[in-house]
Amino acid sequence: TILEVLAAQCLDSRGNPTIQVDVRTSQGIFRARVPSGASTGKHEAIELRDHDKPAFGGKGVLKAVSNVQDVIGPALIEKMFDVKTQQKDIDAFMCELDGTPNKGRLGANAILGVSMACARAGAAAAEMPLYEFLRLEANQQGVYVLPVPFFNMLNGGVHSGNTMAFQELMVAPTGAQSVTQAVQMGSEIYHALKDVITKKYGPGATGTADEGGFAPPITTLDEGLNLLSAAVAVAGYTGMVRYAIDPASSEFFKDGHYDIGFKTDTPCLKTPEEMMELYTRILADYPIALLEDPFAEDDWESWTKFHSNCSHELVGDDLLVTNINRVKIAHEKKACNAMLLKVNQIGTVSEAIEAAKFAKSLDWSVFVSHRSGETVDDFIADLTVALSTGHMKAGAPCRGERVAKYNRLMEIEAESNTSWKPWAYAGENYRDPCIS
Ligand code: PGA
Ligand code: ZN
Repeated sequence: TILEVLAAQCLDSRGNPTIQVDVRTSQGIFRARVPSGASTGKHEAIELRDHDKPAFGGKGVLKAVSNVQDVIGPALIEKMFDVKTQQKDIDAFMCELDGTPNKGRLGANAILGVSMACARAGAAAAEMPLYEFLRLEANQQGVYVLPVPFFNMLNGGVHSGNTMAFQELMVAPTGAQSVTQAVQMGSEIYHALKDVITKKYGPGATGTADEGGFAPPITTLDEGLNLLSAAVAVAGYTGMVRYAIDPASSEFFKDGHYDIGFKTDTPCLKTPEEMMELYTRILADYPIALLEDPFAEDDWESWTKFHSNCSHELVGDDLLVTNINRVKIAHEKKACNAMLLKVNQIGTVSEAIEAAKFAKSLDWSVFVSHRSGETVDDFIADLTVALSTGHMKAGAPCRGERVAKYNRLMEIEAESNTSWKPWAYAGENYRDPCIS
């Protein structure tokens, strides 16, 4: 049972406040830290911030801290939940206690911190690694799958100060044999990219942005993808990687148009049809693994139209916000074929697992994600392995809060080498990794 629940304000990787939660049981103290997005979807669960207070520009989370310590904690302790067997009950109880459809009263950040800390306490009580505990929660069977890490190499959008509208360009080592090799490839490509950027734009262009990727003075997808191809060639991995693009296009959709000049002084408006033409050409010209949020969160029509002619993985992030109700609508509308999973979009571990299971039941793939505002919490690495999703993105192979997740994957991989269980690296099967 839970003996004590404590919370505190700490900083995330952007230097903004976030919440950390400690759950104490007879096994010890179990901590979770909650991430925070910048290009947040408008249908996400509510992140509670102290807007009425001047501290941290109104971004403090002291209300959420007090909700954990004064409301959620005492209520959980009184109920005497067993963390080992009652994760779902704990999560459902917190949703009920909140009483709103979007966790707007207690805050999804407050609730998620407790949910994640309880899962860690549960794993300790069950004497198993977190990924094993979560795998049982998800009732996941078969091969244990180590995911392909999708490394964010170039940052744009609201994550950087350059003029590229498109938020993320990633490199996925699908041709690696293991996570460990994939991490090595990611690191070598990242350093090669730094050299390529230095040669082309000078050393002043090698500063990094929110997710650890570089943000050189580029504007178009072709400029970015050509830099990546050059870096991959220098590192000697041509043919062994795929690229991925997250335009995060909700950020620049206005009145039926996409303004890909939104970071410059001159608007550059594109119709949805023009965006479709651009993406179609890019998908034909480069080895692209997936496109995430190519269209805006409520531009259903464009999603559906593009998807009807596209066999590539199309991932809904802001579109779906890890919410089963949005996934159902997207399925009815045939809008996409994959769900991005961000635990803080929905606010409890159990609901995130349910959403992933539901998406898989539709034969969709699931892509697990960090947020642009992160901490060194590595929960999503275990969650990715638990759900056998085959792919995960946690930013660049650089910066502590990003490498925490990749290092945890390598740690799990090292454990897998000594275990009797059937393990596999997803590799080219990242979309449908339940390799037999
Ligand atoms: P965010 O970005 O965390 O700022 O929302 C990540 C993403 O859009 O995938
Ligand atoms: Zn996204």
